[in-house]
Amino acid sequence: MTTPVLYLMICGAGPAGHIAHMVRLARSDGWDVWCIATPAAVEHFLDLDALEELTGHPVRTGHQRTGQPPLPKATAVVVAPATYNTINKWAAGIADTYALTQLAELTGLGVPIAVLPFVNTALADNRVFHRSVAELRESGVTVLLGEDGFIPHPPRTGGKAMDSYPWRAALQAVAQAKSAAPA
Ligand SMILES: Cc1cc2nc3c(=O)[nH]c(=O)nc-3n(C[C@H](O)[C@H](O)[C@H](O)COP(=O)(O)O)c2cc1C
Repeated sequence: MTTPVLYLMICGAGPAGHIAHMVRLARSDGWDVWCIATPAAVEHFLDLDALEELTGHPVRTGHQRTGQPPLPKATAVVVAPATYNTINKWAAGIADTYALTQLAELTGLGVPIAVLPFVNTALADNRVFHRSVAELRESGVTVLLGEDGFIPHPPRTGGKAMDSYPWRAALQAVAQAKSAAPA
């Protein structure tokens, strides 16, 4: 029996420092978790060795290097935390990080993708952000923003928003893809 594969895309925002919690939740839901991280997530938030030990796989930050295992085909994708930067660049068709390149391809392939933003109200209230969220939704991506998802916090209160970050909503959003995956 093959275990369904979840790509967990990690961007550079506070919840990335708590990604071990999400990995444990996903694994206990039955996912084989492969992490892909942006340069900002690696620089400011992640302990790559700990994450590799937890998932059992190298964390991908770039294209496959000699000796690294290839990424297995994704059953579904979760982008969490998703930054203002990555959401806007992805929606605009920019692919200048490995994570964005993967997201561009996975969107085109129609792989189920759930996005859990972590942005404050100052960022979320930008017109460009509204446009990007609408664009991704029109492309078939599930953006968990608002009721039943992430609700932006006032600027400089992100630390308090961390405990209530709705990791589970992202897993619920891709649960159907897992059930439909061939055994
Ligand atoms: C300590 C710290 C906290 C940050 N928090 C956020 C955040 O909550 N939301 C956000 O969108 N960007 C946040 N940023 C800014 C992003 O890291 C920055 O825009 C970066 O370019 C994102 O790159 P990425 O989208 O490739 O991960 C934070 C940066 C730092 C250093």
